[in-house]
Amino acid sequence: LVIVLDFGGQYKQLIARRVREASVYCEVMPFDTPLSKIKEKNPVGIIFTGGPSVVYEENAPMLEKELFELGIPVLGICYGSQLMGYVLGGEVEKAQHREYGKTDLTVNTNNLMFKDVEENTTCWMSHTYYISKPPVGFEVIATTKTCPVAAMADVEKKLYAVQFHPEVVHTPEGTKMLRNFLYNVCGCKGDWVMTDFAKEQIRLLKEKIGDKKVLCALSGGVDSSVAALLIHKAVGKQLTCIFVDHGLLRKNEGDDVERIFKKEFDMNIIRVNAGEQFISALEGVSDPERKRKIIGEEFIRVFEAEAKKIGTVDFLVQGTIYPDVIESGTKNAAVIKSHHNVGGLPDYVDFKEIIEPLRDLFKDEVRDVGRAIGIPEFLVSRQPFPGPGLAIRIIGDITKDKIAILQDADYIFREEVRNAGLDKEIWQYFAVLTNSKSVGVMGDERTYHYTIALRGVTSIDGMTADWARIPYDVLEKMSVRIVNEVDNVNRIVYDITSKPPATIEWE
Ligand code: XMP
Repeated sequence: LVIVLDFGGQYKQLIARRVREASVYCEVMPFDTPLSKIKEKNPVGIIFTGGPSVVYEENAPMLEKELFELGIPVLGICYGSQLMGYVLGGEVEKAQHREYGKTDLTVNTNNLMFKDVEENTTCWMSHTYYISKPPVGFEVIATTKTCPVAAMADVEKKLYAVQFHPEVVHTPEGTKMLRNFLYNVCGCKGDWVMTDFAKEQIRLLKEKIGDKKVLCALSGGVDSSVAALLIHKAVGKQLTCIFVDHGLLRKNEGDDVERIFKKEFDMNIIRVNAGEQFISALEGVSDPERKRKIIGEEFIRVFEAEAKKIGTVDFLVQGTIYPDVIESGTKNAAVIKSHHNVGGLPDYVDFKEIIEPLRDLFKDEVRDVGRAIGIPEFLVSRQPFPGPGLAIRIIGDITKDKIAILQDADYIFREEVRNAGLDKEIWQYFAVLTNSKSVGVMGDERTYHYTIALRGVTSIDGMTADWARIPYDVLEKMSVRIVNEVDNVNRIVYDITSKPPATIEWE
């Protein structure tokens, strides 16, 4: 075990992620965790995160000096490095020039931390204060133009400190440095895998939940699926999942979700087929924001009605993942679309506490946990799907017929993306039922049918996106199949706008 001690830095989970990527188990703990508790955990190494404070300031997060005398290797990063310098008797000063961004760095390649690192490399800096004089026993092992102690080490005591951020991608050799610390200084073997994480989480959940009752809103998306199955593995039928099928899912999706979780995993699932209710609430509504609001409200109503039947529960599960935690910290962005995420219902259900078993994980790690506990690949590697479902992919008002047309066209499109082997490259891909009809000719007959738009985008996080360059012959095949196989469609167009200025979804 490696402990990441959190001093309020924005990169704490990124540090934890890098440690996990090095196949080493780690836990993030607050900086004021009592020393006795740290000793009890018996870590093989400790990493201090950065943080916004200045060591001299009143109320700056501090540490007992004794921590450095336990013989446990420590790596201090940014504020963590200054703190180490300060507590051990070195000097910390305000720099004449604030260092921010990519910075040239010269390292001592003889030091274990910089083994196999280029002597002249770059690092990511973000600081106003620095260590001007290292404590007794420390040697300077890296410098930059502005920073006399960009890194220092007391090799004998295994204490290391870096002013820069090895955890971010802008420090290209940062991963190597962190791994050097973990493997060469702490002696970690690097044999920990996600299966171990899953096992540990299941053990902790079992301990926390005991014999109490848990409720979960299952949407079939990756996060809620992984969260629900983890809890099921911990407490079995004490968990009840409510799966609200709003009738606006992709073709076969509702049945797939039910089959996998109910039949294959024997979970306690209540599927509520509320399609009729949602469609009648949406009748005649074309405004995208109104659609979203109506669906959000209906969802709560249906969920609440089901939850009432179950009565009071002790825990409500949420599939919150780390990027949601970060995003919820910045609430002042303009509302482009009012996102409705299935699962965010704490005000409407009678429960005592929320559990969020995936709170510290990034999306790809959630997928890995899902694989580790046996969720089928097609579900685990699923593309993002909006909470309001196909309602925001049918422009104009929604009818049952339109839903069926869109489901069929979308199914063929997705199948052909997979057949062409493009499903890993394209981040999100789906069909849209535009509300426009156009004239066509089929056989000798004039037709007047719908236009389907296909949308495929590449993206990292959905914040920005580019349209995917699907080869013409693949597009041709999709177009021919959809027009031939789906009634009431006679024209296919491919969306070639990026985000911005467009958004990924059409509504
Ligand atoms: P836009 O259309 O805003 O979409 O570029 C960005 C990403 O978010 C997804 N999306 C949603 N996800 N509830 C969700 O859970 C929603 O209401 C919602 N609207 C859009 C969209 O599919 C894309 O991945």
